[in-house]
Amino acid sequence: MRKFNSVGVPPIESRMTTDGVIRALEAALRASPDDLEVRSHLIERLLTLDAADDAVPHAHLLLEHGADDDAALELAIRVFRAVGDDATAAALDAGRRAQERSSEESDTEPEERRAMPVTGDDAILPVPDTADELLSKWDSSTPPEEVTFGELAASEVTLDDIGGLDEVKRQLERSFLAPLRNPEMAAAFRKSASGGLLLWGPPGCGKTFLARATAGEMGANFYNVGLADILDMWIGASERNLAAVFEAARRNAPCVLFFDEIDALGQKRSHLKHAAALRGVVNQLLSELDGVADDNDGIFVLAATNHPWDVDEALLRPGRFDRRLLVLPPDAPARRAILDFHLRDRPADGVDLAGLVAATEGYSGADLAFVVESAVEQCLDESLDAGTVVSVTTAHLEQALASVPSTVGPWLETARNHVTYSNRSGEYDELEQYLRAQGGRKRPPGFRS
Ligand SMILES: Nc1ncnc2c1ncn2[C@@H]1O[C@H](COP(=O)(O)OP(=O)(O)OP(=O)(O)O)[C@@H](O)[C@H]1O
Ligand SMILES: [Mg+2]
Repeated sequence: MRKFNSVGVPPIESRMTTDGVIRALEAALRASPDDLEVRSHLIERLLTLDAADDAVPHAHLLLEHGADDDAALELAIRVFRAVGDDATAAALDAGRRAQERSSEESDTEPEERRAMPVTGDDAILPVPDTADELLSKWDSSTPPEEVTFGELAASEVTLDDIGGLDEVKRQLERSFLAPLRNPEMAAAFRKSASGGLLLWGPPGCGKTFLARATAGEMGANFYNVGLADILDMWIGASERNLAAVFEAARRNAPCVLFFDEIDALGQKRSHLKHAAALRGVVNQLLSELDGVADDNDGIFVLAATNHPWDVDEALLRPGRFDRRLLVLPPDAPARRAILDFHLRDRPADGVDLAGLVAATEGYSGADLAFVVESAVEQCLDESLDAGTVVSVTTAHLEQALASVPSTVGPWLETARNHVTYSNRSGEYDELEQYLRAQGGRKRPPGFRS
């Protein structure tokens, strides 16, 4: 067993237990556990010893007893930052700033206003834990401003521009486009009341692109809900933004709401033990999807993620995102279509597409787009030097490909772990099949090698 690390210093565990200061502070805390000053010293010492993980429980106790103490709050934020729990640190920081603001205001406010309950934008810690708690607070708060969220109606991409992914396109057509084109038929089958659709898969393989194409097909009623539209530093405001988005969607039904990177908004609540503010957002999203207060008829919800394993299971239950579509790296015909699409309208000369397709197995759509862009950039340079248009050739693409590795590999490695250890209800079966097929295949031959 290793006793010392490479620089001859005892490892952290033993440094901690042999550290006289730590032992003394722990003894003092056993005698008076509520002493914030002693606990703060202990935390400082642990941070100095690079033992931030051990400081986390103390940071929680510090918050429990000293949430309104600015120095304690600051120290706790440092601990959470040190262990990489940025969500908790950010939530605490937001609370601290709200606290600062409200104390500045209360210095100048008349006595009766100071006694009023703190609600809405002025809310401070402790953080409400559930949507119900929040809703009760909203009743007495100022009404939300109309939220603005991105409309993708102007998108010029259509499903025809998407290379391959035939099954995914068929599903999108069936789930969104057909019911919207035939509302009577959809109403007869009560189709429009069905739940949302989750696109998932490795990065750069076309999830967001598919959503833009759906918007292009639909015209007006497609709303892209970005994280920045929802998340707000004020506690309770994120939930309110989310409610306002759904409210606007109901007014504009039939329409599609698109949540990109849903894992950021709908994270597993068990991951958010220390970030109550974000737990509230997940709860709110659940109740909006259920149409708890209102009818969701005519609201189609589309979402995308490349971390489905981080999405709260409750979001995946029937009536919510109960249909899932795996968007995999493009196969050979899809790669050909993608390369065609990106070379379209570019001056190109006798490009050996078949060779390029064969050499790019395992490349994502985004990787392929990048290969073409790099080749085009090179041609532009050459054209400027030559003073005449130099077309894209196989050699340009070959050279670009040599410097662009596939970005799908690391995702597949992570995915393999989830398939192996958490495919209990078969949700990753399709991915497992793909990984198996990949495993049995040799590495891509490389262009003209
Ligand atoms: N099937 C495809 N057909 C044509 N172009 C594609 C396709 N897939 C990806 N692309 C190209 O790759 C780019 C990136 O794809 P997109 O942003 O949709 O990936 P994503 O799956 O949303 O990735 P992330 O998970 O990282 O958000 C697109 O803008 C497009 O240029
Ligand atoms: Mg995307």
